[in-house]
Amino acid sequence: MKTDFLWGGSIAAHQSEGGWDQGGKGISNMDLVTKGTRDTPREIHKELKEGFIYPSHTGIDFYHRYKEDIQLFAEMGFTALRISIDWTRIFPNGDDPEPNEQGLNFYENVVDTLLAHGIEPIITFFHFELPANLIEKYQGWTSRKLVALFEKYAKTLFERLNGKVTYWATFNEINHLDPNSKAAEFFTYYISGLKFEELENPKQAIAQIAYNTALASAKVVKLGHQINPEFKIGCVFGINPQYPETCKPETMLNNLLENEKELYQMDVMCRGKFPQYKLKEFSAQGIVIEQQETDAKDFQQGTIDYIGLNYYMSSVTPNEQKENEAFFGGIQNQYLELSDWGWAIDSVGLRYTMNWLYRRYQLPLMITENGLGAEDVLEPGNIVNDDYRIDYLNLHISEMKKAITEDYVECLGYLSWGPIDLVSASTGEMSKRYGFIYVDLDDEGKGTGNRYKKKSFDWYKRVIETNGTE
Ligand code: BG6
Repeated sequence: MKTDFLWGGSIAAHQSEGGWDQGGKGISNMDLVTKGTRDTPREIHKELKEGFIYPSHTGIDFYHRYKEDIQLFAEMGFTALRISIDWTRIFPNGDDPEPNEQGLNFYENVVDTLLAHGIEPIITFFHFELPANLIEKYQGWTSRKLVALFEKYAKTLFERLNGKVTYWATFNEINHLDPNSKAAEFFTYYISGLKFEELENPKQAIAQIAYNTALASAKVVKLGHQINPEFKIGCVFGINPQYPETCKPETMLNNLLENEKELYQMDVMCRGKFPQYKLKEFSAQGIVIEQQETDAKDFQQGTIDYIGLNYYMSSVTPNEQKENEAFFGGIQNQYLELSDWGWAIDSVGLRYTMNWLYRRYQLPLMITENGLGAEDVLEPGNIVNDDYRIDYLNLHISEMKKAITEDYVECLGYLSWGPIDLVSASTGEMSKRYGFIYVDLDDEGKGTGNRYKKKSFDWYKRVIETNGTE
């Protein structure tokens, strides 16, 4: 592995910060999502209601404890940390004339703390944090108005953090916009601010959301490169490959189409052109995309520098149509074990996906998320023996290494998801833990909030120390 390979982790604002009403922050879409459970989905409210828990309000209090947390990351030897910026800390309503200085100051302090520890900050502009005002006023990302507002928000940060931040990502997982997947309901809201079941014409709305976000990404990449040509600006995608159940030709074809359906935005961002087949497909379905003549040029000039890959699981395309079993569609793979949340554990799938994307686009990758959500037990002496997590990460990092050293995939770094326990995006639980650092909070947000090192803490430290040779 190259010596400048980035090792670290990724967190997101709405899952970690808390302090939802502090520092001049506005209300975001995620501040209106309740806590769910493994079996009960989170509710999405139009306004806050008594008697509900909204996990983003408290998170793990990274807003106040970031120095302590970064100190622990530094102790593990992190050379990179990916954070997201909450749009509502910078522009509380999304369309305010001036940015909120307190918000800018907070993130600048976080970045300065990282730099003081020799940790490269990687900034995601949008990890599902959307000002609620933009949903009410403009119908979220269905409106092109958001493209310019997002550009202004990104410009503010590019300028403020220029010279301190090199790596940026425009969006997180905006590719999960498949109306047929089990996860469509909450992803549509997380990405666009709109409830899937309330969309009058879901196909039309989703196509426009996908278009607008891809365009916003291109415009921000172009702008960032103008501000500082040294910036490395990518976009983060969640890719969960599907394998065919058998080699039956119809299954192979379906499998190809299943795998392709969430890639067209990546095509635009990597190749600089909206794929013709997709535009034709839209028009054949009666979908009319609002576009402008200058868009083509923006797409062309706003291609990304690297692909951020979030990888958790794979699934299977069945021979015959069956009800979806896996989180992102398809059925489960009989050769794989499932996590306690039903996510198939497939380390080879990471090598497979890295090869697939690298050979398709020949752009450097960065593993921006990967990890195991599991229930941990805090044992006497504040110890967590999370050997299952070590096993999971060990297998995945080993497969990543093979992709790099045996298949020659260019990869900039490996960032584990939630290096410190945080709120689960899909369920809102604290008990779905990913961290090397245990946070003493329960699903109701109750507890001391104290941080304890798990067994995996020293293990990951050793991986980083040896640059993955051990
Ligand atoms: C990714 C998201 O899809 O999966 C993260 O980018 C999320 O925000 C992660 O937390 C793991 O999912 P979950 O539901 O286990 O938190």
